[in-house]
Amino acid sequence: MALLELNDVTKLFGKLAAVEDIDLQVEEGEILGIVGPNGSGKTTLINLISGYYKPTRGDIYFKGRKISGLRPDQIARLGIVRTFQSNVLFEGASVIESMMISSRLQYKTSDWQAFFNTRTYKDEQEKVVGNLLETLQLLDIFNETFRPAAALSHGYQRMLGIAAALAANPSVLMLDEPTTGMNHEEAMFVVENIKKINQQGITVLLIEHNMKVLLGVATRVVVLSFGNKIADGDPYEMMSKPEVIEAYLGTETV
Ligand SMILES: Nc1ncnc2c1ncn2[C@@H]1O[C@H](COP(=O)(O)OP(=O)(O)OP(=O)(O)O)[C@@H](O)[C@H]1O
Ligand SMILES: [Mg+2]
Repeated sequence: MALLELNDVTKLFGKLAAVEDIDLQVEEGEILGIVGPNGSGKTTLINLISGYYKPTRGDIYFKGRKISGLRPDQIARLGIVRTFQSNVLFEGASVIESMMISSRLQYKTSDWQAFFNTRTYKDEQEKVVGNLLETLQLLDIFNETFRPAAALSHGYQRMLGIAAALAANPSVLMLDEPTTGMNHEEAMFVVENIKKINQQGITVLLIEHNMKVLLGVATRVVVLSFGNKIADGDPYEMMSKPEVIEAYLGTETV
């Protein structure tokens, strides 16, 4: 059984099929690259899986359980977490504070326990902070822990977005163009981190325009064009298919 499964999923906006009849299986432990020209439905696909949009038709399953129809917070709690195409910052928060806000999802003690500051709550909070610091260390942004998140460079802010998503302890992480606006060095920093995250046992869905980044990290690639899946398989093989090259003509150099 695939970890995540999309059965014949379609999303219509009026008459426009942003995503059309998509069948997709995501296996545990893979880094699945999702590519396609602007407007081909990549972000819509992530919005569907994470529950921000409901499919017009079709169903989505996670570990055999139907998740299409659940709210985004319910899906995040099940372990499917996403980042956004632009940086999301919490006003005035430091790096560690931003991560603590994002990790709220992970707290299991109830509010009354937090109110009386019980032993369980303290133990849990210590564990959460410990996890967050480990994540910052893993992603090589530990030196920035106490800096205001807004003061970080664009590249580091994007890494913080990824770190914050990891704070929710996901089993599937979906990244929407994590290297946009980065120079080569910054992009390679992100690539290394995606590999490290994957080595922790996290399945990754990666939307990526940059072919160098994609071919350097993806274990499989799905190509979208006008909302349809036109290729699915080995990254290098997919990128040399005529229909894939044609889909990119005028928009991208493959
Ligand atoms: N909320 C919405 N309402 C109406 N149309 C939408 C909405 N979201 C997306 N679309 C349309 O659906 C199509 C797919 O958009 P989507 O954002 O998924 O593409 P994308 O592949 O992520 O593109 P990009 O590479 O530019 O990020 C586009 O034609 C877009 O205009
Ligand atoms: Mg997009």
